[in-house]
Amino acid sequence: MVDSLKAEILGAIGATTDPAALEEVRVAALGKKGRVTALMKDLGGLDPEARKARGAALNVLKDEIAAALNQRKAELQGAALAARLESERLDVTLPARPETEGRIHPITQTIDEITAIFADMGFTVAEGPDVEGDFYNFTALNIPPEHPARQMHDTFYLPDAPDGAKRVLRTHTSPVQIRTMLANKPPIRIIAPGRTYRSDYDMTHTPMFHQVEALVIDEATHMGHLKGAIIEFCRAFFDVDDLPVRFRPSFFPFTEPSAEVDIGCSRKGGELKLGNYGDWLEIMGCGMVHPKVLANCGIDPAKYQGYAFGMGIERIAMLKYGIPDLRTFFEADLRWLKHYGFLPLDMPSLAQGLAR
Ligand code: PHE
Repeated sequence: MVDSLKAEILGAIGATTDPAALEEVRVAALGKKGRVTALMKDLGGLDPEARKARGAALNVLKDEIAAALNQRKAELQGAALAARLESERLDVTLPARPETEGRIHPITQTIDEITAIFADMGFTVAEGPDVEGDFYNFTALNIPPEHPARQMHDTFYLPDAPDGAKRVLRTHTSPVQIRTMLANKPPIRIIAPGRTYRSDYDMTHTPMFHQVEALVIDEATHMGHLKGAIIEFCRAFFDVDDLPVRFRPSFFPFTEPSAEVDIGCSRKGGELKLGNYGDWLEIMGCGMVHPKVLANCGIDPAKYQGYAFGMGIERIAMLKYGIPDLRTFFEADLRWLKHYGFLPLDMPSLAQGLAR
């Protein structure tokens, strides 16, 4: 009788699959109205010898049931934890996915491409502030006050600095030439990409745009090096091996001699194509750094010389990527960015290709 009851209850315990069912089995066996409890109550009607033997057997049965309940409870808890761990599993070793929503803006992409090309030629990247001293933006670059070149820059003037210095939003990246020469001894070999500002707004001008400046100063650099670096850059950037590059005499107060750089193109049928087609397109200004500029920066022009050039980044980005309207660069239109933007993991490099 006790044995068959024990087998039945232990079987029921083993068959439970959740804590609530297990609790039901416990109440049915050991609860106030449970079957084992009922048998204990019946002990009173037995004679002393039988009561002793039976009581001992029932106590053993109670202990066995209690032990089985505890063991099953632990099993069910373990299974519940394992199921939860499995359902909340997160593989932190999964690689980042390249099919992200975000895109790299064409300006950022173009700066990265320019940087990759010039880094390969041994240039490092320098930076200067957008809010610039009049001295750095003009005077030190051999553009004294009242010089007509100042009018051509459509300058945004700012309130004077606390020390009385005149301040402007830089109209070109050339002030980074000055800062670099004041802070470093030659040899110098830097590019300086960044924002520039002019008070102008139409189809081909925005009040904020980007330029990249290059500056090389040492004891032996001449115009041939300038031409070589620019031709190499143009062909690498536009990915046209035989792209014609032409140097046209020009004037900048901070270079002597000065030139403007044209690349070969075709405008047939209203469509612009880069290459050897007989037509020309201007893309940058350049020249040998003016001796007065070197002297303004404490560099001896009798010993040192070098070249500089500067170009508009939007302009070459529009040419390379067929972007028709300058103003769209700064409208922050997501559809535009999806169309013209670049995948974040496709970093430009000379080895893997500048743009894919
Ligand atoms: N700073 C000139 C401009 O903004 C470009 C330039 C840079 C020309 C360096 C010569 C040398 O037009």
